[in-house]
Amino acid sequence: MKNILVTGGAGFIGSHLVRLLVTTYPEYHIVNMDVLTYAGNLENLKDIEDKANYTFVKCDICDVKKVAKIFEEYTIDSVIHLAAESHVDRSIEDPFSFAQTNVMGTLTLLQSAKAYWNGNFSNKLFYHVSTDEVYGSLGEEGFFTEETAYDPHSPYSASKASSDHFVRAYADTYGLPIVISNCSNNYGSYQFPEKLIPLFINNIVNNKPLPIYGKGENVRDWLFVNDHVRAIDVIFHKGKIGDTYNIGGFNEWKNIDLIKVLIKTVDRLLGRKEGASDALITYVTDRAGHDVRYAIDSSKLKNELGWQPSLQFEEGIEKTVAWYLENQEWMENVTSGDYQNYYTNMYQT
Ligand code: NAD
Ligand code: DAU
Repeated sequence: MKNILVTGGAGFIGSHLVRLLVTTYPEYHIVNMDVLTYAGNLENLKDIEDKANYTFVKCDICDVKKVAKIFEEYTIDSVIHLAAESHVDRSIEDPFSFAQTNVMGTLTLLQSAKAYWNGNFSNKLFYHVSTDEVYGSLGEEGFFTEETAYDPHSPYSASKASSDHFVRAYADTYGLPIVISNCSNNYGSYQFPEKLIPLFINNIVNNKPLPIYGKGENVRDWLFVNDHVRAIDVIFHKGKIGDTYNIGGFNEWKNIDLIKVLIKTVDRLLGRKEGASDALITYVTDRAGHDVRYAIDSSKLKNELGWQPSLQFEEGIEKTVAWYLENQEWMENVTSGDYQNYYTNMYQT
């Protein structure tokens, strides 16, 4: 029996992780703690919300008293921490909220775990989910490894780097059993349409311009979200305490090339002439401090724990586009803010 506190479980990656844990491990109790920001959506978990081994608790990870109470009430023995402000563009507009949630929120959780476990660390784990953006930006060659020095550039990546440092500081100073993973760009179902792929799918469907930052030559390493949460499962169960694992797909795409694949796929699945939506491509002012290239070397995870991506990119993109086209109501709800009503109706608050 394990009582696992998943933070940010109503978000994109968190909801996939909660679903995987709840359905794979009926003997575990999964407590999903999420404050439901604009990015958190209980509709993402409709299919599992009635399961006996699942509980949702609305709570801000920065709320010291409430977080401490949740550890006690649910006798939490493991934490998988995903709650965060996660969008780079928003961090450029409002860095303070990123420092608050990503740094102070992580610190609150660390302190609560330390206090509740009170030196009894046997069978305990604090798993921190982080990003490859902490490593900065690559030139044309090379990969981020677990030894790459931190060099964050955006307020988002600076806040995630800071949270990683606090997690390691709690391991070194207090002996807290921790593990960290740093993952590349995820794509898949239930992603909030502020991120490139769902935003562009939605715009193609609605014949709206596709705003490409700069020349569209920045490179990202894309991983199907289900493969990310499979990796988290493997690291949670088999990862070495104190270690860091990089997660990535060895799947680099220039933004412009990726967008052309997206356009082709959406046009075909909508029955339009393939490439008809190329005309929507619009080059706009570049993102400030835009990292040029990310590429993850995930060979440690493969060699030590046996994980590797399950899907080729073309297959993942096809599934992803099909999901958004079949779930246009989900898209309409998240873009109109209706999902907050769902929560109010469901929990009568
Ligand atoms: P998301 O923005 O979709 O979801 C974040 C979730 O956290 C939301 O449900 C939100 O309500 C919740 N949250 C935000 N602030 C909170 C607070 N103060 N208290 C409680 N809950 C709060 O994010 P995502 O893309 O699913 O990312 C999840 C994690 O994975 C983040 O830590 C992110 O840094 C990391 N990550 C994301 C990617 C990616 O490509 N999306 C890649 C690597 C790592
Ligand atoms: O690398 C992991 C990170 O990936 C995660 O830690 C972040 O939480 C996640 O948001 C993502 O960050 P990016 O900034 O790489 O993702 P985004 O989808 O915002 O942008 C992907 C690329 O597309 C990036 O080079 C910027 C570009 N872009 C994005 C948007 C939203 C555009 O050209 N136009 C756009 O409108």
